[in-house]
Amino acid sequence: MQKTFAMIKPNAVRAGLVGRIIARYESARLSVVAIRFKQMTQADVEGFYAEHIGQPFFPNLVRFMTSGPSVQLVLAGENAVTKVRTINGATNPREAEPGTIRYDWATSTVENAVHSSDCLESAVREIDFWFKSEEIIEYKTRSQRAESVL
Ligand code: CMP
Repeated sequence: MQKTFAMIKPNAVRAGLVGRIIARYESARLSVVAIRFKQMTQADVEGFYAEHIGQPFFPNLVRFMTSGPSVQLVLAGENAVTKVRTINGATNPREAEPGTIRYDWATSTVENAVHSSDCLESAVREIDFWFKSEEIIEYKTRSQRAESVL
């Protein structure tokens, strides 16, 4: 079992896609183990995307990511990091495979609908950036959850 961090970005929230995006993750046997809505501040963007400070697109990224609320998620399941990256598709929507979230709903490389951790190390850092450990529910498989309500 692995955990990863994902974010539904402001353009996808504005377009009313929160439920449909989460449904894609859940359909791939990933579970939501933490969730919140937050409109990022400039300081949030500079902290979360620190490795991109100085890139030509960074001011645009700040403007976009602070333009409205986004949804922060922790997803758990087998191979969660790779699975979520595959479901999201390539960063640039013109390179994204049909059937991926970004192929369907990204409008540009900046306004690309979703984010997810690119490796296990980033997942640990990004989960820690957004959530306290007590905000993350205990992961159970679906059959374990079904047993616990019987
Ligand atoms: P994300 O997966 O959230 O990680 C960093 C974000 O920066 C990325 O999605 C894009 O929104 C943005 N980004 C990365 N590379 C570029 C680029 N070359 N041009 C414009 N935006 C980019």
